[in-house]
Amino acid sequence: MEVVILPGTEQIAVLVADAIENLLADRPEAVLGLATGSSPLAVYDELARRYDAGRISFARARAFMLDEYVGLPADHPELYRNVIEREIAGRVDFAEGAVQGPDGLAADLPAACAAYERAIAESGGVDLQILGIGTDGHIAFNEPGSSLASRTRIKTLTGQTRRDNARFFDGDVDAVPQHCLTQGLGTIMDAHHLVLVATGENKAEAVRQLVEGPVSATWPATIMQHHQHATVLLDEAAASRLE
Ligand code: F6R
Repeated sequence: MEVVILPGTEQIAVLVADAIENLLADRPEAVLGLATGSSPLAVYDELARRYDAGRISFARARAFMLDEYVGLPADHPELYRNVIEREIAGRVDFAEGAVQGPDGLAADLPAACAAYERAIAESGGVDLQILGIGTDGHIAFNEPGSSLASRTRIKTLTGQTRRDNARFFDGDVDAVPQHCLTQGLGTIMDAHHLVLVATGENKAEAVRQLVEGPVSATWPATIMQHHQHATVLLDEAAASRLE
């Protein structure tokens, strides 16, 4: 695992956007993995800037989201499908239908999870997966205790994750859904390149476990230590507990 410590969010965003720009220059039909939450927002801003400047095109690319809430209405601004549309997909030139997510609105959720796994496999797999990390060590919504081999499935969010995400719901923790669909750790590990972004002191303990802790379902992100091409991009606050 390659760990890079940079002064701040903007420098991190430039490096991730460089990796995506190079990938798309090499393979315009590449498959990207998109995260939601705060961590990738500067990356999405940088990608949108490069698209506006004519440096990068997503016209032949495809993308898969990591996860989705269950229980929000289709027009809710925090439904991840809507967040991704607002933060990146709608700002660049992805083709209609090229960005997919697990269907948290489906009547048959296990069938939706299985269909999502099939769609990722049929695409040839994710070339570059952007990740954030939860303060409890989750990646996507694989909370502590998740099977290290898990595939896309329904999960219950921990109280800590719901409290962390209440900031997106006007601070109201009760408005944060209790359930989600999430790619499993096994699904994420199938991506060819994992790029995790973490900033801020509140991520320092999860980052310490990710980089220096034993591989364990207690800190699910530690599975990344077994990936052959994983890059962890940190600001100094997120790196502050590393030896
Ligand atoms: C979101 C996701 C989560 C977040 C994590 C960190 O799609 O998969 O794992 O990356 O909860 O969230 P932020 O970046 O908001 O601190």
